[in-house]
Amino acid sequence: MKIKICVVGLGYVGLPLAIEFDRHFPVIGFDVSETRINQLKEDRDSSGEVGEEPLKDSTILFTADPERIKEASFVVICVPTPIDKTKRPNLSFLESASELVGKNLSPDSVVVYESTVYPGCTEEVCVPILEKFSGLRCGEGFKVGYSPERINPGDKEHTIDKITKVIAGMDPDSLETIDFVYSKITKIHPAPTIKTAEAAKVIENIQRDLNIALMNELAVIFNKMGVKTKDVLAAAGTKWNFHKYHPGLVGGHCIGVDPYYLTHKAVELGYHPEVILAGRKINDNMHKHVVELVIKELNNSEKVLKHSKVALLGLTFKENVKDCRNSKAKCLINELKSYGVEVFGCDPLLGRETVENVFGVRYKEMNELEGMDGLVVVSPHQEFGDLDWNQIKKRNENASFVMDLKGFLDSEKIKALGLEYCSI
Ligand SMILES: NC(=O)c1ccc[n+]([C@@H]2O[C@H](COP(=O)([O-])OP(=O)(O)OC[C@H]3O[C@@H](n4cnc5c(N)ncnc54)[C@H](O)[C@@H]3O)[C@@H](O)[C@H]2O)c1
Repeated sequence: MKIKICVVGLGYVGLPLAIEFDRHFPVIGFDVSETRINQLKEDRDSSGEVGEEPLKDSTILFTADPERIKEASFVVICVPTPIDKTKRPNLSFLESASELVGKNLSPDSVVVYESTVYPGCTEEVCVPILEKFSGLRCGEGFKVGYSPERINPGDKEHTIDKITKVIAGMDPDSLETIDFVYSKITKIHPAPTIKTAEAAKVIENIQRDLNIALMNELAVIFNKMGVKTKDVLAAAGTKWNFHKYHPGLVGGHCIGVDPYYLTHKAVELGYHPEVILAGRKINDNMHKHVVELVIKELNNSEKVLKHSKVALLGLTFKENVKDCRNSKAKCLINELKSYGVEVFGCDPLLGRETVENVFGVRYKEMNELEGMDGLVVVSPHQEFGDLDWNQIKKRNENASFVMDLKGFLDSEKIKALGLEYCSI
């Protein structure tokens, strides 16, 4: 089969995918962002997902010119699918990408969507746009498929070539082509329909969201009981069928977003989901529990809340990634500021400009942190493993506590310095 691929949308998902395809097929990498394309042409990936070497070695034709899509017979769409302020799916990127692809679609092409959507979205929303702008009929002039992305940013173990990828086609013909293409890069699992594959993706994240919500609820209850959640989970985890999840802030653009895609569709169909939204509510409010703990710590050490100084370490949505989209650190900051606390941010992966512009706090390098009343490790980047806590304590002699949200630090080391160590 002679195939030329065009990957549309070269972000966290599209770029690593294009790099893998490039090992087996001619690949065009298209993105509407000229800035992104220029970076990639210079072998730079600001997301940090793909290093300089794979970019240097690749033969991908990077372009912001949509006309180049015409050269491809297999188009893969990897554009963002966020939610709006009212937590409803924002399909504008998907719609505009479908329009661009439709306008530049060559007859007999296969278009595969990778963006996370609700079941039915590909066929109900995207296909009509492709048909309208291509003037071709789906099933006759072109075919569609769906293959959800399972990339886990920052995870160097479960990379695309080592995981099983779900694929689906609108009919046996398209499935055969999709199977041929994706089998070259990884193991595949064909789902019987596009809707099934869409549903599979969205529930992977819902399951995670709900399990974390359960841990968060337990953490709030155990805190009131004076029991350490970590110790309870370690004890319960010795049972063979106890699932290992931990409490924490759920940010980013997948776990905290995707459930709303399914609940939106469910409501449209007349069913009001309760369990899924209950989990969302708990996770969306977890930062308030963290702030309550910070306030109690400041209070216990007889600090006046107003103008007390608290530094947050690691502001990205999770550790060891540069991505700060929907980071819950922003909620922590706003909540702390509402009590008059002065908040400082430190994140070696983001740097001064991003921290100050995106989070609205003063930036501090680790060695600039002085006079703090408390420190909160939010996203424990590996860089924080080498911190010299003796030095930190010396420069911040008034500090009374270190809150370690993910239980990453050596608690005994912290306590030995006379600091209160706490977690959730
Ligand atoms: N990042 C993840 O961890 C992850 C994991 C699984 C699934 N997903 C899903 O994959 C999809 C893409 O996510 P991402 O994190 O790669 O997004 P991203 O924001 O990192 O990248 C998207 C890219 O698409 C480009 N773009 C936007 N509109 C476009 C258009 N009309 N035409 C061409 N390019 C366009 C943007 O410029 C950007 O470079 C989303 O649906 C997301 O939910 C993401």
